[in-house]
Amino acid sequence: MNASAAPLIDPNLGNRMIKVDHAGEHGAICIYSGQLFMARLFAPGMVGELQEFLAHERRHRAVFQAELQRRGYRRCRSYWLCGLGGLVLGLLTGVCGRKAIATTTVAVESVVLKHLAHQLHALRDVDPLAVAAIASIVEEEQHHHDHSAAQIDVRDPWFRALTPVVTAWTEAVIWMGMRT
Ligand SMILES: [Fe+2]
Ligand SMILES: [Fe+2]
Repeated sequence: MNASAAPLIDPNLGNRMIKVDHAGEHGAICIYSGQLFMARLFAPGMVGELQEFLAHERRHRAVFQAELQRRGYRRCRSYWLCGLGGLVLGLLTGVCGRKAIATTTVAVESVVLKHLAHQLHALRDVDPLAVAAIASIVEEEQHHHDHSAAQIDVRDPWFRALTPVVTAWTEAVIWMGMRT
């Protein structure tokens, strides 16, 4: 067997994707932490689900952290920026209450799910351990998306105003992460 047969594939692709995902999960933890802090005041009915989502995101970050360590890779340079951006987004949307929180989750998780599907496709014959790590979080991300999507009306002004902003923000974070 020749392990080096695939000259067109970047050998670091899996490493870089794991690094970006690790920083992204940190961002997600910070979003949900910020929202949870504000939800206690402005949307108490959402505290339980935000706690559940936050626990999932902590597990996701640990999955990628372990994979990074195994590869001897350092965390992404955008890690702290993801955290700060996530916290600001979480606090601001948390202040605005239930609709803004659910809209943010739908927008962020939509980008995340698309991004994970792309990664799984790109890495499927290249990096089986990265594929296993990524595949292990997809179901929970889908749950975050679906549970929140069921709470919003796509015609709602919150949804229409916030979705493009949060989508662009999330895509920009991933784009920057892949280039650092
Ligand atoms: Fe996650
Ligand atoms: Fe999530």
